[in-house]
Amino acid sequence: MTHNITLILGDGIGPEVTMAAKKVLDESGVNIKWDIVKAGFEVIEEYGTPLPDYIIDSIKKNKIALKGPVTTPIGKGFRSVNVTLRKTLNLYANVRPIKTYKGVKSRYKNVDIVVFRENTEDLYAGIEHMVSEDIAESIKIISKKASDRIVKFAFEYAKDNNRRKVTAVHKANIMKLSDGLFLKCARNIAKEYKEIEFEGVIVDAMSMKLVLNPENYDLLVMPNLYGDILSDMASGLVGGLGLVPGANIGEDYAIFEPAHGSAPDIAGTGKANPTAAILSGVMMLKHIKEFDSADKIEKAVQKVLADGRCVTCDLGGSASTSEFTSAIIEEMNN
Ligand code: NAI
Repeated sequence: MTHNITLILGDGIGPEVTMAAKKVLDESGVNIKWDIVKAGFEVIEEYGTPLPDYIIDSIKKNKIALKGPVTTPIGKGFRSVNVTLRKTLNLYANVRPIKTYKGVKSRYKNVDIVVFRENTEDLYAGIEHMVSEDIAESIKIISKKASDRIVKFAFEYAKDNNRRKVTAVHKANIMKLSDGLFLKCARNIAKEYKEIEFEGVIVDAMSMKLVLNPENYDLLVMPNLYGDILSDMASGLVGGLGLVPGANIGEDYAIFEPAHGSAPDIAGTGKANPTAAILSGVMMLKHIKEFDSADKIEKAVQKVLADGRCVTCDLGGSASTSEFTSAIIEEMNN
């Protein structure tokens, strides 16, 4: 079967890591017809926006996209392409599996956490204004509908993947109404899944507990902002952002992308680690039920990482993006 998939190159290291992922996926035996589209800084001059309509049109047609990171200006300029895509296509569930890999130097050994981040509301709703010249106000939106569906998504994942515990992360002691609603929804949904352990943990305590004993945690579900911060923090527990893939999933569409950003500090140097992009491709293959190819790629990535001789700088090696990618392809063909 041929799958039609949109490939959004992104900017910074985006094109380097997404093309590496494409190469690995193409070599894995799966039949993909790619619609390769550009986004971000590169296209602004021509189209007046970092997210021209052809990107949304392509995803709406193909339903599935693999995406590279896109730079977002800080404190000014256009709205985040990532946030806009997630909102426009209602990709409500952000899923980031964070685990330790054999051979990768990290502070912990047995981390295997999946972070489920609500993707459409919270302080990311983009409702902010200046109250006066000296006071700015951002509005935090939490709804029952969005909270219920992300918590349900996490529990369904737990059920399908034999996971033991769901931890809801919140700050309901202070934000009694907004985070209070999120926690209430989580507690109610948990009652429908009696076989899976459930607990609520306050976000500040959660940060400490994750740093002390990350191996105690299994699935974490939380509103948008905490999910953004804790998933990056958790990436640091297992060896860095270059390793952590991600998915943004909605009812109709899904976009798979690494957790990391466009890394302008190393863009164009050939140093980017494409693992996160390749593993995002693996998540995508599982989503479209191409399990054999997904398995083949995952095993090859694990072997190359465990072997340690051909890994990128962020993992203490000296291999370039393309050398690392070739090592994975060679391993797959062995
Ligand atoms: P970043 O994730 O781009 O980089 C943080 C650090 O990690 C840098 O030192 C970078 O070199 C390193 N790093 C990241 N990915 C790597 C990889 N694959 N291999 C080796 N090293 C890697 O975060 P930063 O610098 O905060 O953000 C840069 C830009 O990316 C910003 O404009 C931000 O808004 C955007 N961004 C976009 C995302 C997306 O498109 N989904 C997600 C996160 C950030």
